[in-house]
Amino acid sequence: MAIPESFLEELNARTDIVDLISGYVTLTKKGNRYWGLCPFHSEKTPSFSVSPERQMYYCFGCHKGGGAIQFVMEQEGVGFPDAVGILAQRVGMTVPESRGSGDNRKKRERLYQLNREAARWFHQNLMAPENRFALEYFTNRGLSKRTIVNFGLGYSYDRWDMLIQTMTGKGYSKQELLDAGLVVKNDKGRLYDRFRGRVMFPIIDLRGNVIGFGGRVLDNGTPKYLNSPDTIIYNKSKNLFALNLARKSKQGRIILTEGYMDTIALHQAGFDCAVASLGTSLTPDHARMIAQRTQEVVISYDSDSAGVNAAQRAIQLLDKTGIRVKVLKVTGAKDPDEFIKKYGAAAFQKLIDGSENHVEFRLLQVKGKYDLTQDDQKVACIQELAEVISRLPGSAEREVYGNRMAKEMEITPETMQREIRRSQKRQTRWEEKQQARKVLQPVQMNQPESRALRYDNMRSGKAEEGVIAMLMNDPNLLSKVRGLSPEDFTVPVFGRIYQLIWERWTEDRPVSLNALGPELTAEEMNHLVSILQQPISQSNQEQAMEDYINIIQTEGLKGSGTSDLDDDALMAFREKKSWRNQNE
Ligand code: GTP
Ligand code: MN
Repeated sequence: MAIPESFLEELNARTDIVDLISGYVTLTKKGNRYWGLCPFHSEKTPSFSVSPERQMYYCFGCHKGGGAIQFVMEQEGVGFPDAVGILAQRVGMTVPESRGSGDNRKKRERLYQLNREAARWFHQNLMAPENRFALEYFTNRGLSKRTIVNFGLGYSYDRWDMLIQTMTGKGYSKQELLDAGLVVKNDKGRLYDRFRGRVMFPIIDLRGNVIGFGGRVLDNGTPKYLNSPDTIIYNKSKNLFALNLARKSKQGRIILTEGYMDTIALHQAGFDCAVASLGTSLTPDHARMIAQRTQEVVISYDSDSAGVNAAQRAIQLLDKTGIRVKVLKVTGAKDPDEFIKKYGAAAFQKLIDGSENHVEFRLLQVKGKYDLTQDDQKVACIQELAEVISRLPGSAEREVYGNRMAKEMEITPETMQREIRRSQKRQTRWEEKQQARKVLQPVQMNQPESRALRYDNMRSGKAEEGVIAMLMNDPNLLSKVRGLSPEDFTVPVFGRIYQLIWERWTEDRPVSLNALGPELTAEEMNHLVSILQQPISQSNQEQAMEDYINIIQTEGLKGSGTSDLDDDALMAFREKKSWRNQNE
C-alpha cells in the first residue's frame, strides 16, 4: 500500500468523525449515536447515524457507511489518496511522499496552488493603475473596496497569453494551466488564456481553496459570463458560489440567487447568507448541501420567465430535503442586485420577511398550466391544486388555501376540501408504505442491497456476518478460532475480509475500517459497515463464535459435500499463505 499504515492509524486517531461530519451535516445526539439527514440521499427524517465510539457512520436509508476516509471519499467525490490528503490537511499532518497513488493528490494540490496564484494575479491586475477602468466597472456597479477585496475580485488582461507568460514564469507547466481550465488550446494546437479582458470572480470551496473562476465582460459583449470548465478540482454541480462565506452566517437561512453579482450585492448589503449556483441550474447535490447547513432557504431568482422556471425546479429539489422553502418575489427590479440598488437593504429584508411560502408560488404555477375556460382542464387543475394543498402540514393552512382556491375555481369549499382529503389519503397510504419499509429494514437487511453481494446460502451468510462483526470488534478472538478458512465462507467478500483480518492479526497490524478501506470497494465497505450495526453481545463471545463457525461448516458440508473442514484445511490455507508470502 502506498500510504504507510502507521500514518493512517495516526490520522485515524487524530480525526474525530463526529467533528468531521458535523462540518457537513447537522447532528443531534440520541443515545450513544449522533443522527442527522443523510448527505448521500434525500430524506426528511434522519436515518444517518454516526457512532463516536466506533468512529463510523451508517445510513439506515441508503445503507452507505464507513469511517472518516470513506466519508470524505463519498462526500467530496475523491479517491482514497485524496481523501487521506484532505483529512491530513485538516489535522495538520503531512502525507508522506510516495510513488504512484499520491500523484493525483499532488496534482490536485498543484492546481489549488496555481489557482490561488492566478486569483492573486487577477486581483493585482484589478488594482493596477493602468486597469483603472476595470476597477471602475465594479465601483460603478456599487461595490465597495472592501467587498472587492473580500471576494478577491480581479481582472484578466485583454491579451492572448499574459496569464500563460506569468504562470509559466512562476514554474507552472502548460499542461497544468490546461488542467486547471485557465488556458485553452485551439484547433491548431496554440494555447491562449481562457479569460481575457474580463472582470474575474474566484470560486472558493468550503476548505478555502480557489477551484475555478467566472469572468464577466465589461461591456455588452458575449458571452456575458465565462466560467471555468469542470476540472479534477472543480465540479460546478457540487459547488455553490460564496457558500464558504454563507456557512458562517448567523442569519439562520440561506438565500439562493442565480448570479455572482446578486450574491455579492447581497453580502455587501449585510445578507451574508447569500449563495449562487454557478451558471447551471440547481442540482440535487446543491440542494443537499444547502439542506445540510440550514433549515430555511429563500429562493431569490431573477423576475423574468427564465428565473421563474428555474425557481420552479429549485423548489422541487429543495422541498424534497424537508427544509423550509420560501420564494421571494422581486418586483420592480430584474434581480436582487438591482433591487437592492434601487430600494435598499431594508426593503430587501421586508421582501424576505414577507416572502411567500412556496405554496402560493406553486399554486400560481399550477393554475398557469391549465386553460380554465375548458371544463376538463379545470377539473384537472382543481385536482392538482388539491394535491399541492394536501401536502401542507397544518390543517388551518389547508383550509385557508383550500377555501381560497375553491373560490377562484368557482366550486364550493366543501368540494375542494373533499378533494384535498382524498389526495391526502393517497399521500398517507404512500407514506405508510414508506414507513413500513423503513421499519422492516432489519428484516430486509437479511439480503444485501447489492446483487453482487447476494447471499447464496442465507444461514451461512448470516453466520459469516456474525464472525466478521465479532472479529472487527475484537480481532483477538481469532486465537479461539479453530478450523475456519477463508474458503469456507460462502460470501466471497467475507472470505476476503476474514483473510485480511487474519493476516493483520498474525502480523500484529491493526484491524480497523481504515486499514481495510483500500482493499474493499465502496459497495463492500458499505456492506461491512452495515453488518457492524448489529449489536454484539459482550457475554459469551467465545460460545457465539463457536456457534457461528458450526453453522458455516455444517452449511458448507450440506452445500458441496466435498469440502473437508477441519484443521487440515486450515493448515493447507496457512501453507498456501506462506507460499504466497515467499513469492512476494
Ligand atoms: P449581471 O448583473 O449582468 O452582471 O449578471 P448577473 O450576475 O445578474 O447574472 P445573470 O442574471 O445575467 O445570469 C445569472 C448567472 O448565469 C450568472 O451569474 C452566470 O453564472 C450565468 N451566466 C450568465 N450569462 C452567462 C453566459 O453568457 N454564459 C455562461 N456560461 N453563464 C452565464
Ligand atoms: Mn444582474
